Amino acid sequence: MAVIPVALAGRPYEVRVGSGLLPGLVAEAGALLRKPRVPVVTDANVHARWGAVVEQALTAAGKEARWLIHEPGEQAKSWSGLARTVDWLLAEEVERGDHIVALGGGVIGDLTGFAAAIVKRGCGFIQLPTSLLAQVDSSVGGKTAINTPAGKNLVGAFHQPALVLADLDTLATLPPRELAAGYAEVLKYGVLGDRAFFDWCVAHGGSVVAGDGGAQAYAVEQSVAAKARIVAADERETTGTRALLNLGHTFGHALEAETGYSQRLLHGEAVALGMVLAARYSARLGYISTVDAARVAEAVDAAGLPVEIRPLQMQADGAALVRHMLHDKKMDAGTLPFILLRGIGDAFVDRQVQLDDVAAFMEEQLRG
Ligand code: NAD
Ligand code: GLY
Repeated sequence: MAVIPVALAGRPYEVRVGSGLLPGLVAEAGALLRKPRVPVVTDANVHARWGAVVEQALTAAGKEARWLIHEPGEQAKSWSGLARTVDWLLAEEVERGDHIVALGGGVIGDLTGFAAAIVKRGCGFIQLPTSLLAQVDSSVGGKTAINTPAGKNLVGAFHQPALVLADLDTLATLPPRELAAGYAEVLKYGVLGDRAFFDWCVAHGGSVVAGDGGAQAYAVEQSVAAKARIVAADERETTGTRALLNLGHTFGHALEAETGYSQRLLHGEAVALGMVLAARYSARLGYISTVDAARVAEAVDAAGLPVEIRPLQMQADGAALVRHMLHDKKMDAGTLPFILLRGIGDAFVDRQVQLDDVAAFMEEQLRG
């Protein structure tokens, strides 16, 4: 097992990465699970595959799992999903000193974390991430949120978990498309700040998405270590360091919005394509070579992730896609910061990007 500390002043915690962590839940969590009844929030897919393992772990330690099971999918991250979760936690008489368990992907982690942030003005929670995306990104760093009709993740809170247990065994039941989508966030750490890790991804990314346990362990450990460093340096995304994690997200956000946040384009797929677009746009502005932009696209393509917009057959034009970008929560004092590349492994925040030029670039990408 690898233990990766997230060194936040006043609320440090550990991310433990390894096999068999769900069966060992009670020993791992120790005093965090202080009561006989343990509230666990999950979704139906994850419950069907991993519910019995968690149930057994708690029962063997003389505890009772209390389950709230949401329908799978982004819809749970809504006002109604939040109300359901909060009302249930209150009915379960959760107290501030208790820890709610979030068992699932990023949807369950974001929703449960936000509920934990507001119940009794803030109680504890433990992340048990079961998707690759959740293990390498969303379970670490304390961003919690729901979606509203105005947009995705627009209502939420920074609320750090007390512990993250990333059980690599859970990745074996993840659908291959979800595994590949999560890998986009792995590759992102290499592209934004670590050329050596990018090179490792080029060599071993295929093994990660093919289900190789050793490659998955290395990918998750390196990704969590990178995220922990960034979060410790800039917890609330105020200095520009954490903003680098948004590489691919501004372009990707426009594509997700245009495709209705649907199965047409998963979040990780949008990030992958967005990362390719960010690299191509960086080349257009002369920051990187077209050879390096092509290298990023090749690494994305090798994992079976999308590298072109055209197959999505969108009706929108470039200007419409830029309008989607303007509704992004990353807007700051009327300007939209873009994460661009000076090289592979060298991302930076560019606040001077001309939106009409971005629209022209997107138009080229749409029409080829
Ligand atoms: P998800 O939670 O919807 O999970 C994807 C699918 O896989 C779901 O159908 C789920 O039921 C299923 N699943 C999860 N684990 C499984 C397993 N082990 N076996 C079988 N099926 C399993 O989606 P996701 O990709 O994990 O997360 C996406 C969400 O994360 C989005 O809402 C996004 O906004 C959010 N996110 C948050 C952050 C953050 O910093 N908080 C970062 C990135 C993404
Ligand atoms: N996923 C982006 C962040 O945690 O900041």
